[in-house]
This record gives sequence, C-alpha cells and structure tokens, in this order.
Amino acid sequence: MSKTNGMETMDLITTYFCKASQVGYHGNLFGGRMLAWLDEAGAAYSAQCCDSPRMVTKHISAVTFEKPVRPGQIIKIYGEVLKVGNSSITVRLEARRHSVYNGTQRLVCSTNMVFVRIDGDGESIPLSEKVKRKFGSQKNPEEKK
Ligand SMILES: CC(C)(COP(=O)(O)OP(=O)(O)OC[C@H]1O[C@@H](n2cnc3c(N)ncnc32)[C@H](O)[C@@H]1OP(=O)(O)O)[C@@H](O)C(=O)NCCC(=O)NCCS
Repeated sequence: MSKTNGMETMDLITTYFCKASQVGYHGNLFGGRMLAWLDEAGAAYSAQCCDSPRMVTKHISAVTFEKPVRPGQIIKIYGEVLKVGNSSITVRLEARRHSVYNGTQRLVCSTNMVFVRIDGDGESIPLSEKVKRKFGSQKNPEEKK
C-alpha cells in the first residue's frame, strides 16, 4: 500500500463510486471529474469549518494524478485545514482509492485549495473571530506540498 499523508489527522469529507459513464475510452476516470469532486468536497469542508455557506474557490494548487481510477472503485476524499487568514481558508485535500477487500488506500491525487468567504454582493469579507481562533495554530501550507 502506498503511504498517504496524515491519514490519522484528516477528516473524511465525501465518498464516490466511479461509474462507467465517468471514464474515457482508455478506461480511467476523467481528470476533470476528479477535479470537480475535489472542488465540491473542498467547498463543503470550508463552509463547514468556517461556519458560512458562502465560500468560493480562489485558488487550486497543481494536481498530479498518481494512480488511475476505474469503474467500480471507491474514492474517498479527505481534508484538513492548513491555514486560516482574514477572509480565506487553505485546505489540503487527498483523494484515495479505497479497497473494499482489505481496507487499504492508495493516494490518487492531492491538492491545496484556498476558499474565500463572500457577502451577498460577492465581495470578500472576514471570517468570524470564532473561526480564526479555532484554527489559529494550523499547519503552514508551505510544509504540505
Ligand atoms: C473571491 C474573490 C471575491 C476575492 O476577491 P479579492 O479582491 O481577490 O479579495 P482579496 O484580495 O481580499 O483576497 C481574498 C483572499 O484571497 C487570498 N488570495 C488572493 N489571491 C490569492 C491567490 N492567488 N492564491 C491564494 N490566495 C489568494 C488573499 O490572500 C485573501 O486572503 P486573506 O483575506 O485570508 O488574507 C474574487 O477573487 C472572486 O470572486 N473570484 C471568483 C471566485 C469564483 O467564482 N470561484 C469559482 C471558480 S469559477
């Protein structure tokens, strides 16, 4: 089993089944589908961590696809908070292929994403003091690339 980072500390956000309709002619899951899953998971996780439903994607770090995903395989997306700023949160996300036969997981890809809290006009606004205090001492994103 390949090693996955921080398995003990990361939160499970979502689980997906790879379906036949989501793969290309070569039989692997489309990369764009995986990116959509990561974005959705990151947005939901950020909203939950920041006590706000209005979080938009500001930045997605480079993504390298390490392992293929085939129909019938289960993908689990895990997240952890790396940093909380004034209006933004930086989260690390990992997509792992989960074996139902023995419970092992292989890292498919990972990324760091930044989400920003916005108001009703779509302008950035500060996160609450409660949220800033709660995540004040998180990891430096530079340490987790
Ligand atoms: C999100 C948005 C409102 C932010 O507006 P903005 O004028 O850039 O706001 P700010 O300059 O105040 O930056 C907001 C935060 O983003 C961070 N940020 C800005 N550029 C960044 C970058 N390139 N990478 C990472 N973080 C960045 C800033 O550091 C700031 O964080 P902080 O407040 O915690 O210090 C605006 O850029 C936007 O609407 N973008 C489109 C969002 C969207 O539609 N996403 C879906 C993808 S289609």
